[in-house]
Amino acid sequence: MRKLLSALALMATAAGAAVVITVAVPVAPALALDNGLARTPPMGFNNWNTTACRSTFNESLVLGIIDIFVNQGLRDVGYQYVNLDDCWAVPAPNSRDANGNLIPDPTRFPRGIKFLADYAHARGLRLGIYTSAGTKTCNTLGFSGGLDHEQQDAALFASWGIDYLKYDNCNNQGVDAQLRYTRMRDALAATGRPIVYSITEWGRTGPPRVWEWGKEVGNLWRTTGDISDNWTSMIGKAQFNRTLPQWAGPGHWNDPDMLEVGNGGMTATEYRTHFSLWAMMAAPLLIGSDLRNVSADTFTILKNTDVIAIDQDRLGRQGVVIANDGAGHVVYARALANGDRAVALSNETTTTATMSTNVNAIGLGGSASYTLKDLWSKATSTTTGTISTSVAGHSTILYRVSRNGTTRRIEAEAASFSSGTTIDRNWSGYSGTGFVNTPNATGSFVQFTVDAAAAGPATLTFDYGNGSTSDRPVSVSVNGASGGTLAFPATGAWALWKQQTLNVNLNQGANTIRLTATGTGGVANLDYLDVTTTGGGVVHYQAEDATIFQGVVESNHAGFTGTGFVNGDNVVGSGVEFMVASTSGGSTPVTVRFANGTTTNRPMSVNGQTIDFPGTGAWTTWAEVTFTLTLSAGSNAIRLTSTTANGGPNLDRLSVG
Ligand code: GLA
Repeated sequence: MRKLLSALALMATAAGAAVVITVAVPVAPALALDNGLARTPPMGFNNWNTTACRSTFNESLVLGIIDIFVNQGLRDVGYQYVNLDDCWAVPAPNSRDANGNLIPDPTRFPRGIKFLADYAHARGLRLGIYTSAGTKTCNTLGFSGGLDHEQQDAALFASWGIDYLKYDNCNNQGVDAQLRYTRMRDALAATGRPIVYSITEWGRTGPPRVWEWGKEVGNLWRTTGDISDNWTSMIGKAQFNRTLPQWAGPGHWNDPDMLEVGNGGMTATEYRTHFSLWAMMAAPLLIGSDLRNVSADTFTILKNTDVIAIDQDRLGRQGVVIANDGAGHVVYARALANGDRAVALSNETTTTATMSTNVNAIGLGGSASYTLKDLWSKATSTTTGTISTSVAGHSTILYRVSRNGTTRRIEAEAASFSSGTTIDRNWSGYSGTGFVNTPNATGSFVQFTVDAAAAGPATLTFDYGNGSTSDRPVSVSVNGASGGTLAFPATGAWALWKQQTLNVNLNQGANTIRLTATGTGGVANLDYLDVTTTGGGVVHYQAEDATIFQGVVESNHAGFTGTGFVNGDNVVGSGVEFMVASTSGGSTPVTVRFANGTTTNRPMSVNGQTIDFPGTGAWTTWAEVTFTLTLSAGSNAIRLTSTTANGGPNLDRLSVG
């Protein structure tokens, strides 16, 4: 067992626990944005779309929204940031006090901004604020901006306990945008407080445009001008924002502006389209209506946890348009962390239409059957491949599509490969800890070991990126015999991922699947292999292929299955997470193979249940413990977490069924 607590983990804990850090020695300016925030798109509220600069923007609104977040369960479904927009300060020219600090408007906010931040923090929420990367903010009644006051304003915000800054673009005096926004990035970093940084430059200047440099500077950036509460404005934002999927990823998102849901200018159908498309595009979900005064419909839309789960999917890939007939019928698809796909059939016309796609087009082909869940009606249905439905004018049908059978994932970084191959992380949207990049040469290869409980057919899905303009073809061998070829066509950008599927027959036990490049480009960047089988029986999931938290893969103690075992750190919270698919769900036997060479029991929490892992006598003596878990039909996360400072046992594999 590893004895050292990783320094990184220690730092992460310290940062996570921080409330206000007063920094005596300024932190050196960051070279890139590495604040660790917004790993999924920010969710919360911003007052602008409902109040603009009117007097209704005041303390009672902000406190009211915070209370509603708590009382109506919005906090529980993920809404977190309550953000103040323009006009929170005394208008210029009297915005600053004798020390140069911005003064909150005493009529709107008689108890100041720190009071609001404390109120939000006490309820598990966060508070955001606004200023402009210019001499003044945008509204004509606005106040002094942040240009040339970056450090003082950032320090003031941090001292109030601010967690999010929207930094606008008005009155910027023609100073280069990258320079202005980078200065505030560094000022925020120097405060030592974690502050989500929202660049509101609207994609106005460049090239390079904000999405091309935004990742290094902010957590999100506006891609368009301001949204208004009508269909034409909303759909226009979507039409532009959907052209930029390769720029989004965990920690850095395209922002097509805040939500209008609930403001009254669109129908419930149109607001559902708005919310669906924002979720497909991994856009921030910042509520823009006065929740003290909205219809029940509004809450139903904003609290649709199935749709929120698409937006917040931890793989962090923005959905892409896979079909657009140019006449207002647009199909989007988005790959999700557990291998499912989200599909939106969006009808921008005013006339009902039948819209169709299929499982191949969304990268999920090859299998015998699929489950579709309509995320608005909640109806589920089964298909062998076609996805087709009637879609009313201005409506969007949103499905989550799962492959039936049992799917397990093998990360490409857990495979073996030809020499010169690297595991890279420079293109976001990868699953696991990186992706595999082979040398650009004929003969480069990636080889997976696939354990099968029983002989029989399997569908292999390879997730890959190919930002070149040519195919990256491979020949596939299965246990040494030819298994076919895959073309791996260009995906449009290195940060755009697609899938290719292949049906093969597996032997019982270990199978060797090798992809060998037949072109001089080598193998495309490979992210993962999903193996789907439809037979019953026990399915084994190797710990070394699972997601590992605070631990390493080792092979120094004999007797393990697969290619190694996971040795978790000797801390509370180390462990692994397996993604397990179940056809029917229900109470299912689960067996964990482990070794514990100490004489002390090493308990772990497994989806909330505590399982004991007693000493096995030696690190090379492996034992099994079986217990029951209730699984859902479809994908399930099974997470094993150590509950004591000794860490868990060495973990070899998990078997289901
Ligand atoms: C700009 C921004 C808006 C809003 C206003 C406030 O227009 O794009 O989102 O913040 O300023 O004045």
